[in-house]
Amino acid sequence: MDKIVVKGGKTLSGEVKICSAKNSVLPIIAASILGNGECIIENAPMLEDVFVISDVLRSISAEVNIDKESNRIAIKSSGISSIEPSCDLVKKLRASFLIMGPMLARFGRVRISLPGGCNIGTRPIDLHLKGFTALGAEIKLGYGYVEARAEKLIGSNIYLDFPSVGATENIIMAATMAEGETIIENAAEEPEIEDLANYLNKMGAKITGAGTGKIKITGVKELNGVTHKPIYDRIEAGTFMVAGAITKSRIKIIGVNEEHLKPVIAKLTEMGVVIEVEKDVLILDGRRELKPVDIKTMPYPGFPTDMQSQMMALLASVNGTSVITETIFENRFMHAPEMKRMGANIKIDGRSAVIEGTDKLTGCQVKATDLRAGAALILCGLAAEGVTEVMEIYHVDRGYVAIEEKLKALGAEIYRV
Ligand code: UD1
Repeated sequence: MDKIVVKGGKTLSGEVKICSAKNSVLPIIAASILGNGECIIENAPMLEDVFVISDVLRSISAEVNIDKESNRIAIKSSGISSIEPSCDLVKKLRASFLIMGPMLARFGRVRISLPGGCNIGTRPIDLHLKGFTALGAEIKLGYGYVEARAEKLIGSNIYLDFPSVGATENIIMAATMAEGETIIENAAEEPEIEDLANYLNKMGAKITGAGTGKIKITGVKELNGVTHKPIYDRIEAGTFMVAGAITKSRIKIIGVNEEHLKPVIAKLTEMGVVIEVEKDVLILDGRRELKPVDIKTMPYPGFPTDMQSQMMALLASVNGTSVITETIFENRFMHAPEMKRMGANIKIDGRSAVIEGTDKLTGCQVKATDLRAGAALILCGLAAEGVTEVMEIYHVDRGYVAIEEKLKALGAEIYRV
């Protein structure tokens, strides 16, 4: 199994290019089930999660061609002949669930094995299912599977108890071909949802309000194949911003949308990092003395939970007391015990972590417990004295394209074994 080895203490410089957003590409691949004709995703990130969801589509006989040289994915859904994707693949990737909405819209039926618990929390799917039920689907649960059926989906008013990203996306996709109008209130507002809606609208859907808390979908008869280039990955960009700050460096990050990064920019600026953005290029200067801050993760436009562990790495290395409160997932501090092994002073109390920063992090062997936790441990390694080995790096490969190569190009001493 691969591990990443980091020798800390290097200052970074130069530039890094950001890929397209994993969390845009996964629902966009699922949405391609809805297209008559070929759907093409350009500039797609070549990530493990992208390969798994592509295999999920192949397991129901969609044709998915991935060109790793040109970062292009071509999907033809005309041959889909099964309503039940491979259980083993679905278990590998929770986002596989995103095929439910499109399958229901296009074929009126889907059967999928229930996602298990995962490291960062139980992550139920009740809101997805409530949405499908409101659109007229019949849901059956049993034997570890969920099956949804509908002769015809009919537009409806849906109020989400919580602005779930996945539920919002799944309901939008299901409603694209429902009869009449669907309104989702308290919808998630993440930029990736707007990107998905833009993709679906290019295909011929009628969606307005995506990116706000109220989304309106007017059903259409059919959707077509299109070509789309997804938005930049704001979490990858945020991770490299922290890499610059934690190594007290000045770096250039190419491929950002300032609007999408506002909560991260605001926190880093509050800490004393100097950030300038022009068009899609961000210049970060972390060479000043940084201050501790308090962070509370919230649905967008609040501070993203997917940046929480990386910020914990930074705060662990900044003198003073910081408090992080995680409100989205109930068990997303798995990285804290690993960071403590590196000398970080972190106390967990329920959903809050109190961090007493130190400039004396020391390298040791640590374990990536999930995708972002793994990235955060690499960041700790950049700041720590000595050598850090991050084990179980497959978690990181799910969401970062060649993270060690990008860091090495910036001047870090890092390699994969
Ligand atoms: C998506 C992102 C993930 C990010 C998360 C929150 C993708 C592929 N993944 O995950 O990287 O961390 O948004 O920004 O885009 N919940 C329910 N019932 C449901 C659905 C969700 O209770 O039916 C709860 C979850 O348990 C969790 C919270 O809502 O506590 C947020 O989950 P959600 O927004 O749905 O996250 P995902 O779509 O799974």
